[in-house]
Amino acid sequence: MPRSQQQGAVDDPQLVTTSEHVRVTVVDVELGAAPPVESGWQDEVRRLARAQDAVILAHNYQVAEIQDVADHVGDSLALSRIAASAPQRTVVFCGVHFMAETAKILSPDKTILIPDAAAGCSLADTIDADQLRAWKADNPGAVVVAYVNTTAEVKAESDICCTSSNAVDVVAGIPVDRKVLFLPDQFLGAHVKRVTGRDNIEVWMGECHVHAGISPADVRDRVAAHPDAEVLVHPECGCTTSVLWLAGTGGLPPERTHVLSTGGMVDVARAMTADTALVATEVGMLHQLESVNQRTRFLPMNAQASCRFMKMITPAKLLRSLREGRDEVHVDPLLAARARRAVEAMVAVGTPSVVGE
Ligand code: 13P
Ligand code: SF4
Repeated sequence: MPRSQQQGAVDDPQLVTTSEHVRVTVVDVELGAAPPVESGWQDEVRRLARAQDAVILAHNYQVAEIQDVADHVGDSLALSRIAASAPQRTVVFCGVHFMAETAKILSPDKTILIPDAAAGCSLADTIDADQLRAWKADNPGAVVVAYVNTTAEVKAESDICCTSSNAVDVVAGIPVDRKVLFLPDQFLGAHVKRVTGRDNIEVWMGECHVHAGISPADVRDRVAAHPDAEVLVHPECGCTTSVLWLAGTGGLPPERTHVLSTGGMVDVARAMTADTALVATEVGMLHQLESVNQRTRFLPMNAQASCRFMKMITPAKLLRSLREGRDEVHVDPLLAARARRAVEAMVAVGTPSVVGE
């Protein structure tokens, strides 16, 4: 059974779980080698983007070639902000579908393209709008905080969205006497509970198959092999609790342990002087870290942590996107209007992380 179909329990005894609601679907997409692309494709992408008044955004997990040709590279929150404020009429979103859909929700009058609309997200697939409505009915008056890794339908049922970079700030801004329903990532939810110290948070038991697969055993082995390394961990990881446990019990120096969004990792890496850093997130992240810091050797905590959905965006598909205007993202206007309240509330919270140009 794939990791993402297991009802993984977080090793946090305080976590209130809702495992009876869990539905996990994993779209298993077979990845072959990237299709061949004409030489000089980067110049052609830049020419087409200029001619079509398009801005190209790339998430930190994209393949290196896509990151290098994009106008902006960043985390989910930073890219949402850029998609909303960019002057161009067209946004080509090199990431996964919920990211492009969020851009459309924020900018309904812009043309939003994703080079392959089949690039989904196993975490976003762990909850649908019917399940959320049932959860809300069981918890009247609770505030629903939805991670941005959700569909437009789920966002429309939510009070406020968040990303990994502002989840703690979003929850901290909710009155302490209001119960919070946090969805859909159990590891990010456990992290938010731990940092805010709130015990009135219920967490949906979803997980990302890539991050859940980075295990406490990976951390133990890698830290033992590189005892002086800095440790960067995305809060979606299955190992987050054990990393913080190690940091709290002397197994890792707390000052060398950082739980961060992908954009936060880039910010920390810029000023890093360590010889080695261990990185617990999707492996595409290493490219941005290496481009902002050539002193430090960035090593994956688990080299298998590759998101097959992110890797569906290839140079050939980016070219096709600009040439053929595909795949255009549409969101029903009434649904988008309901989802926009929650997404705009998210964009207003937290400090923007630095974006690679
Ligand atoms: P960030 O918001 O940190 O970029 O993470 C997005 C994501 O999909 C993590 O898997
Ligand atoms: Fe979704 Fe996980 Fe891929 Fe991020 S890494 S896009 S959460 S499947």
